[in-house]
Amino acid sequence: MCKKSAIYPGFFDPITNGHLSIVARGLHIFDHLIIAILNNPQKAPLFTIDERISMIKEAVKGKPNVEVDTFDGLLVDYVIQKESNIILRGLRALSDFEYEFQMALMNRKLNRHVQSVFLMTDYKWFYISSTIIKEAARFGGDVSGLVPGFVNNKLKEKFSQAKNA
Ligand code: PNS
Repeated sequence: MCKKSAIYPGFFDPITNGHLSIVARGLHIFDHLIIAILNNPQKAPLFTIDERISMIKEAVKGKPNVEVDTFDGLLVDYVIQKESNIILRGLRALSDFEYEFQMALMNRKLNRHVQSVFLMTDYKWFYISSTIIKEAARFGGDVSGLVPGFVNNKLKEKFSQAKNA
């Protein structure tokens, strides 16, 4: 049987339980997932690419069919390079829809062989994003339960370093 592989792309700055839920559910559909981090330093991420890779690797430890990688340039080119034809994305609120729809159509225009597949986020993670997690954590808000424990510790470390700088 031919193994089906999908690419789950994003910034993952940092990875949240919402992302991990999409990974876990994606594995019910696909045999192999590649979590692909866009390496775009212009976005001024909180975590370096190495920090993001190591947090994601820790989070998917024990899932041998999940790979962690980075990419730059066009996503569709990366998908083909990895011998896949599927982009997996999570959909939260309606507000995601417009952006995701636009991106899916542009990716389809760029390469008709690449299909975008969406999973509705679980209601538990409906309101969270890496951005809102960082915003809360920056001001000392409790984000436990929304990110893995080691990500929570890393967030605390980052923001205490910034305070003491
Ligand atoms: O974590 P995000 O912000 O939802 O991820 C967005 C991402 C990385 C999937 C998107 O920006 C992307 O694919 N960038 C690579 C450049 C590209 O191919 N863009 C799509 C065509 S406009």
